[in-house]
Amino acid sequence: MAFLEIRNVAKSFGGLMANNDISFSVEQGEIIGLIGPNGAGKTTLFNCIAGFYPPTRGKIFFAGEDITGLAPEKICLKGVARTFQIVRIFKDMTVLDNVMIGAFCRTNSTSRARAKAEEILDFVGLTDVQFQISAGLTLAGKKRMEFAKALATEPNLIMLDEAMAGLNPSETRDAVELVKRMRQKGLTVLLVEHVMEAVMPISDRVVVLDYGVKIAEDKPENIVTNEEVIKAYLGEKVHVARQ
Ligand SMILES: Nc1ncnc2c1ncn2[C@@H]1O[C@H](COP(=O)(O)OP(=O)(O)OP(=O)(O)O)[C@@H](O)[C@H]1O
Ligand SMILES: [Mg+2]
Repeated sequence: MAFLEIRNVAKSFGGLMANNDISFSVEQGEIIGLIGPNGAGKTTLFNCIAGFYPPTRGKIFFAGEDITGLAPEKICLKGVARTFQIVRIFKDMTVLDNVMIGAFCRTNSTSRARAKAEEILDFVGLTDVQFQISAGLTLAGKKRMEFAKALATEPNLIMLDEAMAGLNPSETRDAVELVKRMRQKGLTVLLVEHVMEAVMPISDRVVVLDYGVKIAEDKPENIVTNEEVIKAYLGEKVHVARQ
């Protein structure tokens, strides 16, 4: 069985099928891009995997276990972390305290949570601002802190929901480097992203959703020439050459 297996997952909101019979699998250490137009169902699929919604149908297996419909905190303990499309931070707290919240998923000890948070802040390059109130961070800083909060839960799979949206080109390059370093640490990464210049060069494979349905799954170089994907989504996004 693959590290992560999505089997025939469907999620409906009333009459709307936000995810419709989606299947794909991910091997450990892979970076998988998940792309598609607005409303295609990308965030919904993250929510199903992370336990925020139970899927209406289908099964999700992670590291050999059926995790379908488990509560988010249980799924987190099994090693799945995610970031949010709209950054969710405790804005009145320091950067360090925000990241410690993630670390408390594995320990009740404040000193151990702090040590873990410090290690992760160093990894993401936020040590210098760790005592700042997080509301004062730039958008790039806040997104980086979200990475840190997720990493502090010690995941094996991290799901990043539009981690690069709104960043300038140099901040985007930094974020891409960070994703590469996550993989070097042994993490498996699922990446929802509209920034094709970022997602195509780092993804081993790309899954494309459209109206809740998987319309393609292939290597990036094949995705960018796939007629159906171009029609549904890529359209004018032509600068997608692999680095
Ligand atoms: N909690 C909800 N209740 C009702 N409808 C929802 C809910 N969450 C998502 N939807 C709908 O499900 C569909 C898929 O939404 P989703 O947020 O998964 O898309 P997405 O691919 O992440 O889009 P975007 O690129 O804009 O973030 C949309 O039509 C959306 O309006
Ligand atoms: Mg979304």
